[in-house]
Amino acid sequence: MTESLQYDLTLYPSPVLRKQAAAVESFDDELREVVEAMFRTMRESKGVGLAAPQVGMKRRILVMNHTGEEGDDRAMINPEILSRDGETTLYEEGCLSFPGIYGEIQRPDSCRVRWQDTDGATHEETFTGFESRVIQHEHDHLVGVLLVDRMSSADKLRNKVALENLVHDYKQAAAKQG
Ligand code: NI
Repeated sequence: MTESLQYDLTLYPSPVLRKQAAAVESFDDELREVVEAMFRTMRESKGVGLAAPQVGMKRRILVMNHTGEEGDDRAMINPEILSRDGETTLYEEGCLSFPGIYGEIQRPDSCRVRWQDTDGATHEETFTGFESRVIQHEHDHLVGVLLVDRMSSADKLRNKVALENLVHDYKQAAAKQG
């Protein structure tokens, strides 16, 4: 595998985005290479987070960096949100699978997460603020929940043309592939 491997982003409404991701069972070099390539793809796409279904893989993997600082890269394997807590806040979210589409999404401020690192060690921690929001957004991807599902009807209406264009582009690409 080359140092510069990156993935193509899977865009809405690709069916893989609606699938349940499966648990990772092998914590090996292949997993670490996938995670590195996901980080490269996320950075290249200027995202703050990326989940494996967004690069076509039904695996419970997410990568994120909520600050853009080098030391803040975080990969979560088999993440589970144990609880969500705190005040519900409204914040504008985008998604690499929905280019150019944004919506104000409500989420609880805090979440407690259990996950494994790329060596298989288990961690548990409570997150708040933007970091918690990114985790909740990426975790949604692992269970087939998308930005469009959590958008208000006003935001859906505002983004109607852009959403229709994505569906149109997907159908055209699918037709081309036969
Ligand atoms: Ni997303």
